[in-house]
Amino acid sequence: MINFKQIISDKISKVTQIDEKELETYIEIPKDAKNGDYSFPCFRLAKELKKAPPVIANEIKEVIEKEIEQIKEIEKVEVIGGYLNFFINKEILVEEVLKEVSKTQEYGKSEVGKGKNIVIDYSAPNIAKPFHIGHLRTTLIGNSLYRTYKYLGYNTTGINHLGDYGTQFGKMIEAYKMWKDEYNLEEDPINKMMDMYVRINSLCKEDEQVLERCRENFRLLESGDKYCVDLWNRFKDLSMVEFNKIYDILNVKFDSYNGEAFYADKTDEVIKTLEEKEKLTESEGARIVDLEDVGINTPCLIQKANGSSIYATRDLAAIMYRAKTYDFDKCLYVVAYEQNLHFKQIFEVAKYLVDEKYAKGLEHVSYGMVSLPTGKMSTRLGNVVKIEDLINGTIEKAQEIIAEKNPNLENKDEVAKKVGIGAIVFNTLSTVTTKDQIFDWNTALNFQGETGPYIQYTYVRTRSVLEKAGYVPKSEDIKIENLTDEYSLEILKLMYNFEDVLIQVTDKNEPSILSRYLIDLAKAYSSFYNENKIIVEDKEIQDARIYLTYAVGNVLKQGAQLLGIEMPEKM
Ligand code: ARG
Repeated sequence: MINFKQIISDKISKVTQIDEKELETYIEIPKDAKNGDYSFPCFRLAKELKKAPPVIANEIKEVIEKEIEQIKEIEKVEVIGGYLNFFINKEILVEEVLKEVSKTQEYGKSEVGKGKNIVIDYSAPNIAKPFHIGHLRTTLIGNSLYRTYKYLGYNTTGINHLGDYGTQFGKMIEAYKMWKDEYNLEEDPINKMMDMYVRINSLCKEDEQVLERCRENFRLLESGDKYCVDLWNRFKDLSMVEFNKIYDILNVKFDSYNGEAFYADKTDEVIKTLEEKEKLTESEGARIVDLEDVGINTPCLIQKANGSSIYATRDLAAIMYRAKTYDFDKCLYVVAYEQNLHFKQIFEVAKYLVDEKYAKGLEHVSYGMVSLPTGKMSTRLGNVVKIEDLINGTIEKAQEIIAEKNPNLENKDEVAKKVGIGAIVFNTLSTVTTKDQIFDWNTALNFQGETGPYIQYTYVRTRSVLEKAGYVPKSEDIKIENLTDEYSLEILKLMYNFEDVLIQVTDKNEPSILSRYLIDLAKAYSSFYNENKIIVEDKEIQDARIYLTYAVGNVLKQGAQLLGIEMPEKM
């Protein structure tokens, strides 16, 4: 498609001699169409050029105005305060969008990321522990980023860095040895394993001998003892069956399940390299990397006094491995903000272990807490809310709503599943990643609110318009002038920006930019729908409006899919 931003920045670049790629990032989209379609704020140039922003704006305008008269893409430029406001040629915009819609089902898909390797580390629940709502955000944010990067042509690898290692497995093995007849693990594996763990843990506090046996089990596990390894594998398999139920229902996928255990035999290289670079210091028998001089007061623990590695060591081994294996341009960690310090530390230490290129590509996508409002739902679900209960509860609620709104609907259960999950996914991805959030299912399931179901409902509306019309016109037959009214233009401008929105999502690792966008598009379509009759006397007008409806449906569906939401065809 024609890139209006690029045309504008190219013109300004010629006057200011500033790199046009940089200028392009300054360009904003005004909230009010009165201020044009794009605006260029001159405030950032004021310092460098030592002039007031309005003066700069007028000077630039004077030079570029003549050139703009020569091209058809831009209609005019105006100055308001320190801003240059550009008005683009609407016919060209409409034409471009229609052309693109007719070309592909995968609107907005591109190759901007071609040749770049992205690794995304997300979800990563801990074996033998429940998959609780704390892991919901990492799972869904990671999944959405994974889909979006792929859509933009990046070579993307999704990794589930399972928490499948550590001294607690020595305890689990001991608990199993002692009480295997009391717990039927097949029946309710994760809860049973949790119970065993809690019980052995308190026993260890009372009885030093038991604790010693647990340590011995872990040593055996590390050295590859068959009994211990088999048992550990069994715990892992049982947990994975439970985790996979959730991944299946949410349609979340990974390319690798290399968890912490995978790196256990790769930590020697971390230690050796740090030794060679003389970065390791002794501290109370343990070995650490001091980070004081880079402004981190807590040193990074690398090796415990008993010689064993820790979580951080395995993460460092993983960085070395990922650099070698995936040659990544970016390696993202979608992990809660409780681990901010951990990632600061390991990213610093990584500078001693991998090339600068890789160290620079490490990024912690830190997210806030999820909580439930106090009340019925949270008491019913208990304190540690399991994702499975949250999902099932929300689907049940969606079933009730649908049964009431549309009792004759076919495939009610299938639709309720999509709506329930859509509500959860959208709610999770509509808050800015770093902020805390509340999951309240009345809000999340409100068909009229800024929710997943609202987007699904709008999509369903586009489908029913098409069904009523009984046809989709050809894009070549659409007369542009029938789509230049205020309401159609609002939609088409949003559609034009779709790819840009996806690029912003990946630049900022922020899926909420896409969820916001989909709400704006759904709202714009609702206004259009309320203002315009679609099935009308004038066939040309009708064709244009049906085509626009078809196009909006496509983008809503595609965008939702990138968040991890599926669309029902009816609801
Ligand atoms: N298993 C960890 C947890 O539940 C998250 C692991 C995140 N990934 C990583 N490479 N450290 O807290």
